[in-house]
Amino acid sequence: MEGSGFLKLGDLLREKMDEFSDEAEKTVSQKDGKLVSEMDVDDYSRSVLKVTSKRMQTTRDGKHFLLLTLADRSGMIRGIDWHNAELNDKRLKIGTVARFDGKISLFDSKKQFNIRNSKNAVQILSTGEFDPKKFVEITSRDVRELYDNLIKLLDRINDDDIRELLKEIFVKDERFAVAFLEAPAAVTVHHGYKGGLIEHSMDVAKLAEQMTANYPGMDINMDIVIAGSLLHDIGKVREYSIKPSGIERTSQGELIGHIVIGVNMLHEYAMKVKGFDSELLTELEHIILSHHGEVEWGAPVLPKTIEAMIIHGADNIDSKVAQFREWSEKTLEENGTNDKYHWSNYNKYLSRRIRVRGINNGEGVE
Ligand SMILES: [Fe+2]
Ligand SMILES: [Fe+2]
Repeated sequence: MEGSGFLKLGDLLREKMDEFSDEAEKTVSQKDGKLVSEMDVDDYSRSVLKVTSKRMQTTRDGKHFLLLTLADRSGMIRGIDWHNAELNDKRLKIGTVARFDGKISLFDSKKQFNIRNSKNAVQILSTGEFDPKKFVEITSRDVRELYDNLIKLLDRINDDDIRELLKEIFVKDERFAVAFLEAPAAVTVHHGYKGGLIEHSMDVAKLAEQMTANYPGMDINMDIVIAGSLLHDIGKVREYSIKPSGIERTSQGELIGHIVIGVNMLHEYAMKVKGFDSELLTELEHIILSHHGEVEWGAPVLPKTIEAMIIHGADNIDSKVAQFREWSEKTLEENGTNDKYHWSNYNKYLSRRIRVRGINNGEGVE
């Protein structure tokens, strides 16, 4: 079976992949109301949203109001409660999910959710009472295909130790494989959605392979490049967890972080491969430890092998391109698509605004 490309998937894995390919998995239940991105000015809305910030404010003439930020997977909107501010200030906490009843208006050229004057306008919900798909985005890519391609990659690896190690992780440990298919690559920065980690890891592998092929005269170990690409972020499986109300960092994620978690995981798996070459293990550990590339970007060591350098480059470009893509989509959602160019809002992760081209580009609109 080694190297044959034939793979018998476990039940858990097969079930998970069917779930991903099911279109129903992506559509939010109607009773939970519109997504923030779909709300239009003057709409009356009854929508399930999460409180992400709140502050009691007072007008110049002494009237109290509650200022909220309400969010779902598509974005956020300012919420205002003029009528039951004290009551709802006590009831709502950061992270509370509730059904909000109100009307959308435009204030300061931004959409605002004005909560209706009724004690029932805010209905707090617990897990099970709302559709988790309202808060967690899912990759638009075909996860089955991504996983098939991952298996094909493993079969192309020449080094027996590396191939065995990767099979231990991505095939034999079915629980891990399922978690890897589901995991996001972040809360928000890039690939912050279900399936984001396998998407990112496979794109890094593809880029890193292409970069390596660009320098045929150099002694670069392709097996290490592929293994390092697939392994560099495995710690994210334990760094994040998907809750019904969104993606959260686990305590391991907060206290240890995916780089050190990943190195520990790699160790655990390498122990399962009899006689795994210790120098090779150190090189793979080095790739995980150095993939952020600079000390100020969270890497405890700088890339010191050519394979580690290539993986850092591929990881950096893939995450930046994803940030551009996600931020452009958000900008177009907010501004419409017809203008030739749009300037985005400031993006704190990219430390800049970006220029986005309108889809219709002002030309050839039907
Ligand atoms: Fe990372
Ligand atoms: Fe990464």
